[in-house]
Amino acid sequence: MTKKLAFWIFLAGTISSSALFLWLTLDTHRQVEVLANVDKLSERVVAGKRVFEKYNCNDCHTILGFGGYYAPDLTKVIRRIGEGGVQLIVKMPDKTFAGSRRKMPNQGLSDEEIGRLIAFFTWIGNIDNGDWPPQDSATRLSRKERRIVASTALSPGAAVFKAQGCMHCHALQKRGGTAGPPLDGIARRRSPKEIMHSVVNHADVDQDAAMKPRKDLSGTEVEAVTLFLANLK
Ligand code: HEC
Ligand code: HEC
Repeated sequence: MTKKLAFWIFLAGTISSSALFLWLTLDTHRQVEVLANVDKLSERVVAGKRVFEKYNCNDCHTILGFGGYYAPDLTKVIRRIGEGGVQLIVKMPDKTFAGSRRKMPNQGLSDEEIGRLIAFFTWIGNIDNGDWPPQDSATRLSRKERRIVASTALSPGAAVFKAQGCMHCHALQKRGGTAGPPLDGIARRRSPKEIMHSVVNHADVDQDAAMKPRKDLSGTEVEAVTLFLANLK
């Protein structure tokens, strides 16, 4: 190859990749408003962001990957554990994470503040971020918790139980949260139908229940997790 040819190849490469980069950047900026649901950015959402800042949740948690890496990313937290889950955890992290080595402080937020936070999390959770950072709560379980879930059965239901944060509130073999009852041997106490009802529509059973109805779970997920629990004899 002559020097001249190398120069032209270099030049053409540089120009075309710069053009591509510029185009992609502009294209992303054009789509930001749509991807981020800017039209749904209400005052309540902004107030929720203020609460998030006031209590320095960002010291430990990330949102869209920004913040501290001590605790789970909260971008898709509503999808993961529902509004009820967030409410319970922020109200009593000490109870929810009993038995966990990583600690979250109870900062005594009011119900109003938690409501605002939920509005903020709901909005941010609907941003199309191409699932980045990846929201895999499986990696967050301790080694012992993972072993329990794995040993109980490598079933799709165990995976749902793990991924949907059920262990934040329910213990299996003494591992997991204490906000809800332990679920060991639940099949001896409840029929599969009752178990399923508890998962999908808990508020019908008990209006004051801390566990909110999980209407966000798909039919397949509900069936799988019910089957998993209905076999815990
Ligand atoms: C000192 C660090 C720290 C601070 C500050 C903190 N958290 Fe946490 N948080 C944690 C840890 C650690 C966990 C995970 C515990 C575990 O899984 O064992 C957690 C878990 C959570 C979860 C459950 C996440 C999931 O996906 O299951 C939510 C929701 C949450 N925190 C909300 C908040 C909010 C809202 C604030 C601010 C008001 C806050 N946290 C402040 C440490 C913190
Ligand atoms: C935020 C905490 C919380 C989370 C997360 C949670 N639960 Fe619960 N759950 C409870 C509480 C509290 C109860 C006790 C009954 C009540 O609400 O009055 C309960 C009750 C139940 C019961 C009935 C137990 C019995 O003895 O009758 C089942 C089954 C159940 N939960 C399954 C699940 C599954 C499956 C998940 C995950 C998809 C889950 N829960 C997530 C808090 C939670």
